[in-house]
Amino acid sequence: MTAANASSGMGKVWFIGAGPGDPDLITVKGLRILQEADVVVYTDSLVSDALIARARPDAEVLGSAGMTLEEIVAVLVARARAGKTVARVHTGDPSVFGAVLEQMAMLEREGIPYEIVPGVSAVFAAAAAARVELTVPELCQTVILTRVEGRTPMPEGERLRDLARHGCTLALFLSATLTKKVMAELRAAGWGDDTPVVVVYKATWPDERILRTTLGELDEAVRRAGIRSHAMILAGRALDPELARSSAYRSRLYDPAFTHGYRTGRGEGA
Ligand SMILES: C[S@@+](CC[C@H](N)C(=O)[O-])C[C@H]1O[C@@H](n2cnc3c(N)ncnc32)[C@H](O)[C@@H]1O
Repeated sequence: MTAANASSGMGKVWFIGAGPGDPDLITVKGLRILQEADVVVYTDSLVSDALIARARPDAEVLGSAGMTLEEIVAVLVARARAGKTVARVHTGDPSVFGAVLEQMAMLEREGIPYEIVPGVSAVFAAAAAARVELTVPELCQTVILTRVEGRTPMPEGERLRDLARHGCTLALFLSATLTKKVMAELRAAGWGDDTPVVVVYKATWPDERILRTTLGELDEAVRRAGIRSHAMILAGRALDPELARSSAYRSRLYDPAFTHGYRTGRGEGA
């Protein structure tokens, strides 16, 4: 028994963000818990087997893709009650489209202790792969993480066209098969067909692909590339490839004329 509560004999469930794919992109803490866990339940459709291979050789390892919520939670509850440490490993960061709330609610009802270890979300892996900054000084200072409406309806006021009216950077999860709809929604919000869009398929996986396109070409580009899933769509002016070649946008933080607590005068500090 690892880390079980000594007085109650109760184990614990750890929701761990596995990161976007590359097994080295889990946090140090997440990896430590994974390596110590008695039981590992992981999203086998999206989490790398190479990461799960780092679990203890004698750990009980279960893929959750073919299980229902009730079956998953039944395992988590039973093993924690048996005093086990359970690693429930989710792709990216568990808090973004992670379907962890429903598991936590059931654990709460059953009185099972749990904790969350954050992970690197696909949005940041995609930005890194595309070599972009999602917030560009004085151009766009907001990133909206969302999806276009598919089978899951969007709440009132959160239709993509409503969100896009802000003109900020958009990171679209779960939308690779809905690119026609993405185009229609962004056009309805007044976005021009020349708006830069980057689609990152399987960011950080060996077969990662990066498509640099525009709003007007988005559907065609994604279809031509045969991308149907596992892709992040980043859209907005921050994705303009010209920005990296321009010196027009720079942060005030590092401007020689801008002083702050860590740098009180020109040339002092970093
Ligand atoms: C159920 S959501 C999970 C998101 C995850 N919790 C996160 O923080 O990245 C799955 C969606 O995340 C995106 N995604 C996950 N991993 C990805 C990757 N490695 N590259 C690109 N997109 C990814 C895709 O949009 C996919 O449809």
